Amino acid sequence: MQNALKKKQSLPLPPGSFGLPVIGETISLLRDRNFADKRQKKYGSVFKTNIFGRPTIYICGAEANRFIFSNENKYFVATWPKSTKILLGSNSLATNTGSFHTSRRKLMYQAFQPRALANYIPAMERFTKKYLEKWQGMGTLTWYPELRNYTFDIASNLLVGTDGGSETRLSKLFEDWCAGLFSIPIPLPWTSFGKALRCRVEMLKEIEKIVLRRQQEQKLGEDALGLLLQARDEEGNSLSLDELKDQILLLLFAGHETLTSALASFCLLVAQHPEVLSRIREEQDRLNFSEPLTIDKLKQMTYLEQVLKEVLRVISPVGGGFREVIEECEFKGYSIPKGWSIQYQIGRTHEDASIYNNPDRFDPDRFAPDRAEDKQQSFGYVPFGGGLRECLGKEFARLEMKIFATMLVRDYDWELLPSQDLNLVTIPTPHPRDGLRVKFCYR
Ligand code: HEM
Repeated sequence: MQNALKKKQSLPLPPGSFGLPVIGETISLLRDRNFADKRQKKYGSVFKTNIFGRPTIYICGAEANRFIFSNENKYFVATWPKSTKILLGSNSLATNTGSFHTSRRKLMYQAFQPRALANYIPAMERFTKKYLEKWQGMGTLTWYPELRNYTFDIASNLLVGTDGGSETRLSKLFEDWCAGLFSIPIPLPWTSFGKALRCRVEMLKEIEKIVLRRQQEQKLGEDALGLLLQARDEEGNSLSLDELKDQILLLLFAGHETLTSALASFCLLVAQHPEVLSRIREEQDRLNFSEPLTIDKLKQMTYLEQVLKEVLRVISPVGGGFREVIEECEFKGYSIPKGWSIQYQIGRTHEDASIYNNPDRFDPDRFAPDRAEDKQQSFGYVPFGGGLRECLGKEFARLEMKIFATMLVRDYDWELLPSQDLNLVTIPTPHPRDGLRVKFCYR
């Protein structure tokens, strides 16, 4: 034991630079979407930096992911940059750790289990139909903000039981709140963090109104809020109002921000690859399913499934995940010191040429059973993370993506408008800089 400790202490730290005093390399990270790429080229797949006020080690690849996911609570616990932590709140599942996290996660999972998901399909279909008809009426549109309203309406209806979510004050506040999530945590009125903090206070007031209204209803229902309202801990106590508010805030955020990015990427990539669109339509014509859609019908859309997987590989809505090192450990011959942050990388793993053939190509056939490139190395395909902190809403997200894609390709055509910037802005989640401007019509 003593020897092992001595050995670890004598190991070198990974290469890299801490940048400027205090702010480290945070500005470069926020401004440059190739931040990790450039450093990886310079230093290799394990490097150190200083971001969001903390020394941080970046590790990349399938083996790195396995190292992180299989050592949760042993070497690592989930953490977030200070700005994100404060804005999510101390009661949020995303910031909970250890056995408290496990028991809260179990409770919240009830809203995402297969039976609950099957019940969500009719509402997902209803909202999809409503928005597709709206977009048809608009003719030309900037799609990203519209997709955001669409996913927010579904999340607020299915997770907290409110209607017209995207038209509420809450939805407007979300935008400024999101803009401060990954920022330097200086709480001044004009900083993005300061503005986001003010939004958090206002959002919690709005969520409190929803919670109090629901508490007065006779039947609490089986959506996430209904389950949280009925939940009791080991001593029989119900969740405090403060905890309920933070958990709802997390679900509304996680339930629409990443999904909006994924849907926008689907629309973009499929528009750029008409041959893929033709094959999705061939499959739809062959299956010829009528609505209502069911889990069983959706399962048979295997080519569409490949396309959606490839969308999440090529443009991962989440770039990676932060952990705090709680015990000094070793990775690839380097010391990983206690108290530092460590980050695994999703997008960069998906670009690894030792896992994927021509990783830059949009090629849904890489997931066909005869190629199954994602099965070559475990933890080589991780859009939803992995281990104890794998995305709680993974199946909800996959379901909504499939219903959206099915109903869109069957009946509608869309075309990218010229003279727009399609380069991706990555914070908080990737989306085209000009918001994806399209011409939209009935087929
Ligand atoms: C966590 C991705 C949609 C709820 C995560 C993590 C990833 C992820 C990578 C793990 C982060 C880490 O390791 O620290 C995605 C993607 C989505 C998506 C790519 C859409 C395409 C959703 C939806 C919901 C949701 C729709 C809820 C309705 C959560 C929650 C966590 C989480 C609650 C925290 C889990 C925990 O800490 O135990 N997501 N997510 N996500 N996601 Fe998602």
